[in-house]
Amino acid sequence: MSKSHLLKKVLISDVIDPCCAEILRDSGIEVDIKVGLSHEQLKEEIKKYDGLILRSATFVTADILEVAENMKVAAFAGTGTDNVDIKAASKHGIIVMNAPGANTVSTAEHTCAMICTLVRNIPKANMSMKAGKWETEALTGIALQGRTLAVIGLGAIGREVIKRMKAFQMNIIGYDPIVTKQQALKLGVTWYPLEEIWPRADIITLHLPAIPQTYGMINDSVFAQCRQGMYLVNAARGTIVREQSVLKALEKGICAGAALDVFQEEPTHNEELVNHPNVIATPHIGGNTTEAQTRVAANVANQFVNLNKCIKLSGNINVKALQDDLQAWHDLGHNLGHIAATYVGHLSGQTQVQVETCGDSAKGGARFLKYAVEKGLITVCQSSDKLQDAGVQVSTGHNETCSTLPCDMGGGMKVTVTQGDRSLSLCGTVRGSAPLLCAINGCAFTNGTTLQGNMLFYESTESNSFLPLSVLSSNGKSTVSAFASSATVGVRKWTVIYLNELMDNIEPIKSLVACLMQITVPPPPILKRPMSKV
Ligand code: MLT
Repeated sequence: MSKSHLLKKVLISDVIDPCCAEILRDSGIEVDIKVGLSHEQLKEEIKKYDGLILRSATFVTADILEVAENMKVAAFAGTGTDNVDIKAASKHGIIVMNAPGANTVSTAEHTCAMICTLVRNIPKANMSMKAGKWETEALTGIALQGRTLAVIGLGAIGREVIKRMKAFQMNIIGYDPIVTKQQALKLGVTWYPLEEIWPRADIITLHLPAIPQTYGMINDSVFAQCRQGMYLVNAARGTIVREQSVLKALEKGICAGAALDVFQEEPTHNEELVNHPNVIATPHIGGNTTEAQTRVAANVANQFVNLNKCIKLSGNINVKALQDDLQAWHDLGHNLGHIAATYVGHLSGQTQVQVETCGDSAKGGARFLKYAVEKGLITVCQSSDKLQDAGVQVSTGHNETCSTLPCDMGGGMKVTVTQGDRSLSLCGTVRGSAPLLCAINGCAFTNGTTLQGNMLFYESTESNSFLPLSVLSSNGKSTVSAFASSATVGVRKWTVIYLNELMDNIEPIKSLVACLMQITVPPPPILKRPMSKV
């Protein structure tokens, strides 16, 4: 693995299928596996790594992200990402990823298994047999056929549960705030608002994320509206259910039984709940099948490998802008870095570079873009070591808005280079697969101008706006193919001239305008095919 890759060293902090480390190592990424670290240990360890791969046992809180100065990506080897503080990760320019879909069917299968075993008292019967008993009447269950199953959350897992439970000829009702009645009907589900779900359901199964809106959703007031003798199944997240309310409902007989794979605290210490005779408890193993674990592990590992190759991100949670065209964003950062370095001429301990994302959709991408900018800066230095040796300081940040972006672009980036009393700020974005330059020192190019080919930049005032064409073609080979002029700010504006070939020598014409510089931006490479292994 080249020293210049984004991800050189990755920590795996939870039990994850070995194929994950194998794929990463095969691609040249160094991997450490440290399972069961305490919060303080993780806080210390995290500083050494570019990437983290975790499951539900690791909590990546704001204080951990605060000190994770090298971290560029945190990837959840599963679906939920609630144990990563996404807001804090975005603030620090860290990409958060997951492995969407890889364990969906396994979690759905676990849910269906829990429904069946719960209503037929199978765990109780098993325990009774092992105790040498032969009880029959006491272990009478209920039939699923004709009963009403309420599926709360009609996303991927909920839908897989529905498909499977239909085979039991159940009446399926459901709720999801972003699914319409018509969409639900197509899934074979009658949609009701929550208050109409509770009194109708014989069995309620939850398939919701852990978000503030779902916190403590199944509580005393909900049980008070439920049918006497209903069943509750939760293989989603423990925080959705108030455990004390479940215990009360079990005692009152409102809830005949609960099957719980997830708990408010994990590992749970709620022995009263786990040991309740009408509770089936499993230790968050919904997604734990050999197949799903291989898939999630390979999925996140391949995403890391693809990230190093600038290939499309598939499970990116917090940086929507980078999702579609990672290569173009990389090229944008690289090109802005190249222009910044060309402007200052040489990089030294006096050079400060700030890489900022702007707009909500780019938030979280700052460290990836910093890496691309650094690669652009070193095209002038010629060696990656020299950037550090030269003492160039590159920092990252985020701006909620970016006034110099064309109005239809939701996100972009800004690179500001400062050396002594000289400073240049470059603002850019990606449209389609094209990196666009949107502004130089606040002088905006309407709709942006492409960063491609042989480009000559200069700043001018109203009095010396254009370089005469005769000057540009004075070396006999450079002809102008296009040009773009920015809006005027004060009396200053910037012009970009696209040449068929770079000029041999721009020194003689430097006195005609300010900040004259030329660079060649290579055309975007042909998109590589995403890697797939396992
Ligand atoms: C998930 O959200 O994918 C699972 O709950 C994670 C896990 O199995 O650890």
